[in-house]
Amino acid sequence: LKVLFAVSECVPFAKTGGLADVAGALPLALAARGHDVRIVMPRYDSAISHLVDAHGALRPGVRRHEAPLGVPLGGHDVWTAVWEARLAPRGGAEDSAALLAPRVYLLEHGGFFDRDGVYGDTHGEFGDNLQRYTLLSRGALSLCRALSFWPDVIHVHDWQTSLLPVYLNTLEKDSQLGQAASVLTIHNMGYQGWFDEHLFPLTGLGWDVYRKGGLSAHHRLNLLKGGLHHATLISTVSPRYAQEIKTSEGGEGLDWVLRARGGDVMGILNGIDDAAWNPATDPHLPAHFSADDLSGKALSKAALQREMGLPERADVPLIGVVSRLAHQKGIDVIAGALPQILSHDVQVVVLGAGEGWAEALFRRLSASGDRFRAHIGMNEGLAHRIEAGADLFMMPSRYEPCGLNQLYSQRYGTLPVVRAVGGLDDTVDTNLTGFKFDELSPSALAQTVAWAVHTYRTRPDHFRAMQLRAMHKQMGWGHASRQYEALYRLAVARRRGTIT
Ligand code: ADP
Ligand code: GLC
Repeated sequence: LKVLFAVSECVPFAKTGGLADVAGALPLALAARGHDVRIVMPRYDSAISHLVDAHGALRPGVRRHEAPLGVPLGGHDVWTAVWEARLAPRGGAEDSAALLAPRVYLLEHGGFFDRDGVYGDTHGEFGDNLQRYTLLSRGALSLCRALSFWPDVIHVHDWQTSLLPVYLNTLEKDSQLGQAASVLTIHNMGYQGWFDEHLFPLTGLGWDVYRKGGLSAHHRLNLLKGGLHHATLISTVSPRYAQEIKTSEGGEGLDWVLRARGGDVMGILNGIDDAAWNPATDPHLPAHFSADDLSGKALSKAALQREMGLPERADVPLIGVVSRLAHQKGIDVIAGALPQILSHDVQVVVLGAGEGWAEALFRRLSASGDRFRAHIGMNEGLAHRIEAGADLFMMPSRYEPCGLNQLYSQRYGTLPVVRAVGGLDDTVDTNLTGFKFDELSPSALAQTVAWAVHTYRTRPDHFRAMQLRAMHKQMGWGHASRQYEALYRLAVARRRGTIT
């Protein structure tokens, strides 16, 4: 199949969260199955160092297309330069794998993408995000035309590329591109792309589409809703979340739209890039380890304690957190549980960035005592070292479409303590590979941490058996990529009218 993957972030070029990890790994798994997958995304500032070296010379495999791409936006053409790179497999690429590496097209536009931040900065969301992601969505179509690349499926992700299925059904209805099926994957219902409706003409769509095309909600423009209405098929990133978003508790106001689409909504559990997240080869770790020999994990723990300025003690349970500091992640629940958790002989390390109050609280707690340390900011290496060096990993999410950190932590023998929601419920087996609780409260989290710590101290053999079971779990993209392939084929058959 020919697949265009239209996405707003993708490792290594840009990342704010798990979407970038998915976009950087799933296309590789699909390419390995023989599909022609191409990715289109913005060329943010963070991508530049991956395209050119310090002297401004193009990196190997990178080219800048000579002809700029004209993209209709708000009644005129906007010109974007096109960079082309390869999505190289991480963790030591084989030659044969490199040949299959999907092409990534990065759209450059000075006014829209040359700035710090992906969706926003310290002042909040950027005010021109509708223009920026309309440019990406329409640019994706202009790009296909310029390349004469006629995808069977256009796979879009979250609100940022939700306009694409709308274009396929409207402006492109009678064009060659309009024959493409679309698949919309929901990575997070909490972000829907809300804008003032007077901005709608920017999209180039008529008001009839706005009214009848499912794009309006409460007199505002809602891009995700438009995508849900128009996509040939819809998926989300875990089976349980696929159910949750059809309920009023989990649907963020769009549950009825999903219920109306009935069987068109599928849950496909994310995998992990097991080359990038492999404790036996991970270049970010001070020592390597595997299920056969955990001695490198003990060394990683000691090194993490040193790095974070905590007492270097092998016997104390070390609890890690790596997270966007956002309401979704239950950061308030962690904050509320910390006094109780830290009353025990444990250590807690937090890596995260986000809400100001949480950053300030964690910084303050970090400044005193010898049980808690936080690092505020994005730090990829430290994220890997926490996954490796900790004994337990906390994730008390309010909701969680899939969650990748609890998967990474299991791969690294670090047992997750999670709230039983969404993908966390689907991927953690209580008392087998981690510890789960139901109630969203500091006391439920603290009690479950106490249970995990008790297990660590009093039942070391059981704890070790859990670690090994977690490390042996199959979590790669093999299974999910087969499911996406089936979903694509179904979408194509739907679009062509061979099945309904
Ligand atoms: P979400 O996408 O909702 O943030 P996921 O668990 O799916 O949650 O993915 C989060 C990703 O972002 C993981 O790869 C995690 O390691 C990474 N991450 C989150 N916060 C940081 C941080 N402060 N520094 C480095 N990586 C981070
Ligand atoms: C979102 C979700 C997270 C998921 C990720 C990748 O950011 O919050 O649960 O793992 O997307 O699908």
